[in-house]
Amino acid sequence: MSRIVTRDLTKAYGDLAVIEPLSLDVPAGQFISVIGPSGCGKTTLMRVLAGLEPPSGGDVTVDGQAPATARSRKRVAMVPQQPGLLPWRTVRANARLLLDVNRASTPPDAADPTALLQEVGLGDFMDAYPHELSGGMQQRVALVRALALHAPLLVMDEPFAALDEITRAGMRGLLNHLVEGRGVTVFFITHSIAEAVALSDRVLVSSPRPARVVADITVDLPRPRAADVEDEPRFVELCAQVRHALHGGMS
Ligand SMILES: Nc1ncnc2c1ncn2[C@@H]1O[C@H](COP(=O)(O)OP(=O)(O)OP(=O)(O)O)[C@@H](O)[C@H]1O
Ligand SMILES: [Mg+2]
Repeated sequence: MSRIVTRDLTKAYGDLAVIEPLSLDVPAGQFISVIGPSGCGKTTLMRVLAGLEPPSGGDVTVDGQAPATARSRKRVAMVPQQPGLLPWRTVRANARLLLDVNRASTPPDAADPTALLQEVGLGDFMDAYPHELSGGMQQRVALVRALALHAPLLVMDEPFAALDEITRAGMRGLLNHLVEGRGVTVFFITHSIAEAVALSDRVLVSSPRPARVVADITVDLPRPRAADVEDEPRFVELCAQVRHALHGGMS
């Protein structure tokens, strides 16, 4: 579990302001989603939190450390929008990728990806190559690759965006199942209101660029969450609240 704290964090590329001063406290173990218009700065924020980009101003820490330090200690795992599997590695070897790189930093409790691959329904595909998998299966390998690291912070950039609606709904259930009780902090970016509400403890709604938090919504749906949570009146209400904030209203 990782606590993320930012104070007056800003990011600009030259003259282009991408993130307005952002002060955010994400408690350890929280599942937080960010939703906002295309180009508003979501990926940029995620890259700063993951230690892949320095902020332009202000402070940011992950468990009191600079994000780049946390990342080099394998305390941050990332699931990108495209699975990014290596075509010459089998499913099993792709799932091990982050464990194999920079072995000295691999935490002793890093999970054996074999059990995780079974858990996500890929038990029969351990020795298959990425081109033999569907898009949803490839994304599940990318998810296992990140989870196997046992990093206390998991950042995910629209990981299910390229999937069809049915597969995507299945992935929501799977992700809830995988992270509930694991005590991991998740920073999740999405364009889907239903996905944000179904998965999160908290949803941040961003303005168009430069990113500014226009709503910070607590999702008080009980856990564990089953797929039929999406039929509940409270779920529908929360989705309406997020939609309203996205479209410029107050919430
Ligand atoms: N490396 C970079 N150099 C210069 N400008 C950048 C760079 N990365 C992002 N930007 C700019 O920052 C702004 C925000 O980009 P970002 O990728 O964070 O948006 P986003 O909210 O993730 O959008 P989307 O929902 O389309 O993925 C864009 O205007 C983009 O052009
Ligand atoms: Mg993006």
